[in-house]
Amino acid sequence: MATLPTIFVLNGPNLNLLGTREPEIYGPDTLDDIAGALEDRARELGLAIDMRQSNHEGHLVDWLHEAQAVGAKAVILNAGAYTHTSVALHDAIKAIETPVIEVHLSNPQARESFRRRSYISSVARGTIAGLGALGYELALDAAARL
Ligand code: DQA
Repeated sequence: MATLPTIFVLNGPNLNLLGTREPEIYGPDTLDDIAGALEDRARELGLAIDMRQSNHEGHLVDWLHEAQAVGAKAVILNAGAYTHTSVALHDAIKAIETPVIEVHLSNPQARESFRRRSYISSVARGTIAGLGALGYELALDAAARL
């Protein structure tokens, strides 16, 4: 059987705590719940997903490089707080041709001022924010059509 086009879904720091972490901001779903919903949608779309999470910036950089190296169709990236600090992630996205879709559960623009700067947005193909876990599914639908 031919391999399905793969979408990397990369999640940054503290997202392993979804479900118990500030649920009034990030919602009730765990990362496993989100992965399950994405698996279901990916099956409908004829895609495979490769879902990962790390609290370490360098892992995210390595995985962006890997997405390109293995020919992933796209990357969905929730870089968590590294969104607002990481020149390394900005540069990694610029260094690859694989399209990257930035996702946030919350709407950082509507929160503290330090969240208003994103080092990801200017190099991402697009951004989905403020729609909770649904944002990941919308990003997957978009990735399917890129
Ligand atoms: C987040 C928003 C970031 O500001 C925050 O640091 C996160 C999660 C979101 O999904 O809403 O960790 O990326």
